[in-house]
Amino acid sequence: MPEPTKTATLTFDNKSIELPMHSPSVGPDAVDIRKLYASGDIFTYDPGFTSTASCRSTITYIDGDKGELLYRGYPIEQLADKSSYLECCFLLLYGELPTADQMKEFTTRVTRHTMLHEQVHYFFRGFRRDAHPMATMVGVVGAMSAFYHDSLDINDPWQREVAAIRMIAKMPTIAAMAYKYSIGQPFVYPRNDLNYAENFLHMCFSVPAEPYRVDPVLAKAMDRIFTLHADHEQNASTSTVRLAGSSGANPFACIAAGIACLWGPAHGGANQACLEMLREIGTVDRIPEFIARAKDKDDPFRLMGFGHRVYKNFDPRAKVMKESADEVLDLLGIHDNETLKVAKELEKIALEDAYFVEKKLYPNVDFYSGIILEAMGFPTSMFTPIFALSRTVGWVSQWKEMIADTDQKIGRPRQLYVGAPKRDYVDITKR
Ligand code: CMC
Repeated sequence: MPEPTKTATLTFDNKSIELPMHSPSVGPDAVDIRKLYASGDIFTYDPGFTSTASCRSTITYIDGDKGELLYRGYPIEQLADKSSYLECCFLLLYGELPTADQMKEFTTRVTRHTMLHEQVHYFFRGFRRDAHPMATMVGVVGAMSAFYHDSLDINDPWQREVAAIRMIAKMPTIAAMAYKYSIGQPFVYPRNDLNYAENFLHMCFSVPAEPYRVDPVLAKAMDRIFTLHADHEQNASTSTVRLAGSSGANPFACIAAGIACLWGPAHGGANQACLEMLREIGTVDRIPEFIARAKDKDDPFRLMGFGHRVYKNFDPRAKVMKESADEVLDLLGIHDNETLKVAKELEKIALEDAYFVEKKLYPNVDFYSGIILEAMGFPTSMFTPIFALSRTVGWVSQWKEMIADTDQKIGRPRQLYVGAPKRDYVDITKR
């Protein structure tokens, strides 16, 4: 990192502290407060890290006001249009787009790792059939550290690399197995003659009793969904992976922590919650009732698929997702889908409503993804596992970056303590 050229001055209690400021390649400057406690005996207070950069990173950049998302500098719209998920995986992991030879070699490496240790099948069978696939995924991914002992040493760059490839390669197999288990169908092994998205659709939808042909348009849409979710800088689940990794925990344990965090409805769980909300609204005439509820301070209801911590303009992923939704529904001949009608009308009304306009609440990536996934045949419970498998490359890239960063320390926030000051214990008979 270049030496800081600017400083900020913090004045309090007749004291003044000079704080160095770092300038990023793009985006706002950051005041370096690392020495604040040592020199000023004060903390900063920032619940939810709304103004705090927790790390430096070269992977993904978001300009929330412009509605811009870049992977290693490349706009998401261009990648969604021209690239593929595996190419984006290479880009996120190694920083540059691959040459043709590098891409071939990387694809072979990922493909060779798609199968799971056979013993993992028994692990799946320990779950109840009605378990949510996210619950199964958290358990199975956490359990990978019990199966792949040769990629647990985080201090060995080669083992870190093998763990990264294993995770990217095996996550579709794990997600598909979680799905097959939940519907009582036999597990389907990966096929290495198919590409990444085709193989996932094959493992989810084929059965041993008859041949299954993967539709190329659906595979393309699937690949695009993976690409759009691949990374999103320091979101809650990525920060969870980094925090877990900062203690030296093994990579499989860290990714399991990320999956657990992603499951929440304010984060990755929003895609399932959004489709369930659209179904609950049911018909266009009921939209005003739900808009009123979303605006009511006394009602905890929120319009799922709307709003974002960083985007205060359209989520660029939502724009691409909307185009994909139209393509997929056209292909499948779905034209008068009631859920889609509700979604389109809800979007229109919310974008014109003063409450949503003032608070800059725009549709996010989850608003349209559920419609596509449902049309493809996925149940709502599979929406968040698909998000998790797509985000795995982001988590792994950020984890690898963190381990290699010399500024990295164990994540250990401080607190603003507002509890009781020191007091003496009172015997139970005297309380
Ligand atoms: N519906 C109604 N009001 C909302 C919504 C919404 N979806 N989102 C935010 N608001 C209001 C909120 O009540 C608050 O109002 P006020 O200032 O009067 O108290 C204001 O807008 C700011 O909200 P916030 O909760 O302070 O904003 P945040 O940055 O902490 O939360 C969010 C961001 C994504 C958690 C939130 O917008 C939300 O809960 N959205 C619905 C869930 C959702 O779609 N999540 C997926 C996010 S994109 C996928 C991903 O990356 O995980």
